[in-house]
Amino acid sequence: MALNKNPYKGCRDFYPIDMKCRNYLFEHMNKTAKSYGYEPYDGPMLEEVELYKAKSGEELINDQIYSFTDRGNRQVAIRPEMTPTLARMVANIHKQEAKPLRWYSIPNLMRYEKPQRGRVREHWQYNVDIFGAPAGLGELEILNVAISFLTSFGATEKMFSVLINDRSIVDGIFHKLMKLETEKAYKLYKVIDAAKKVDQAKLDSMISEVVSDVEAINILNEYLAIKSLQEVSTFITKNDLSNECENFLKIVESIKDLGLSKFIKYDPTIVRGLDYYTGLVFEVFDQHPDNRRAIAGGGAYANLLSIFNESPLAGIGFGLGDVTLKDFLETHKLLPQFHSTQSDFYLCYLDESEQSECFKLAHILRSKGLKIEMNLGTIKFNKIFKIAENKGHKIVAILEKKDNELALQIRDLKTRNTEHFKISDIDNIVKSFK
Ligand code: HAM
Repeated sequence: MALNKNPYKGCRDFYPIDMKCRNYLFEHMNKTAKSYGYEPYDGPMLEEVELYKAKSGEELINDQIYSFTDRGNRQVAIRPEMTPTLARMVANIHKQEAKPLRWYSIPNLMRYEKPQRGRVREHWQYNVDIFGAPAGLGELEILNVAISFLTSFGATEKMFSVLINDRSIVDGIFHKLMKLETEKAYKLYKVIDAAKKVDQAKLDSMISEVVSDVEAINILNEYLAIKSLQEVSTFITKNDLSNECENFLKIVESIKDLGLSKFIKYDPTIVRGLDYYTGLVFEVFDQHPDNRRAIAGGGAYANLLSIFNESPLAGIGFGLGDVTLKDFLETHKLLPQFHSTQSDFYLCYLDESEQSECFKLAHILRSKGLKIEMNLGTIKFNKIFKIAENKGHKIVAILEKKDNELALQIRDLKTRNTEHFKISDIDNIVKSFK
């Protein structure tokens, strides 16, 4: 029986043309992170499954993780996210390092999900995190990095919004105002996290499965109706939650001062599914009606290092998927066309006696920084242009004998402009491309 030529379900093959797009996205990721002083890091593909069981949350563990027992009887998992690996790495070295630590990475992750638009089983995720920053300032910087990254493609505030919330507000409401015990509060977090995916009737019934007290439900509904940073600040003050939410209120002030309000909106349903978040949480949402989904998600996690018995070190960061990013850029027509070649020209020779000279010329030109794809073997003059065009070249260079001397004819396939050079005239050949 013939084998299947398709990749494993929910995974992608990256043909050269796809790699060009991926590299383009990664170049923007590297450039933005480095422009803020973030340094690249990476970790292993496999981790002990316990690392995720500690704080990643039940959805990831119960439904999405790829785990197996290795030959040494260890329970391991393919990384479904990077934050636990990052926390493990930081826990190992943070005492010796100057703070804040600014790190970024672009790992591939695997989650067992139902493949659909914006969701695959293997994706690459831009992770940008800061550790040990002064309260409120790490959050501001991370929000800025996420915004700068998207605007570096030409995206504007009309195309995306950063929806923020803070777990301190939700904790304050659940515990202080609604008087829920820990287990119910945990369940209600999961209900709120699912709020955008269900209609109002379903949401009401999910809430009433966790909370029965009418007054508590009224408070929750009042909270869920909040629509702006101004309204949530008033709600916090009115309900005597200012102490608990002091850091959030400071961040809101800075957002206004820095003129970021056009990008950043308040959304009470943003609580994030991962259990380790403790403070600010946010998701970057595409505003296009055809592509309303999260491009990125992140937040602050103060206690993740405690799973390694380390003293707390505040971490804040986000993850942004390559698939959701590409969908976003395509939807808003911000993705350039990728040509199928990255060489400067297609170099050919017509007669076997020119073969060695052609190899030598290509070698010299490459050493001068040109990218050259060479036709291997002789080729008939009238076939060159079709082949070069099919390969995506815009320019061909043909080595030919002219007046008994070897010369290079360089032709632009679109304009049909043709120039002739002696092959010893290397500097001018190189100049004609630069
Ligand atoms: P997350 O919300 O699970 O957060 O994922 C972040 C982003 O990764 C999502 O918004 C989406 O763009 C992308 N993503 C996640 N799962 C998939 C999938 N199955 N297919 C395609 N794209 C996907 C985290 O993973 C946190 N660890 C992020 C973080 C970093 N928090 C702090 N630092």
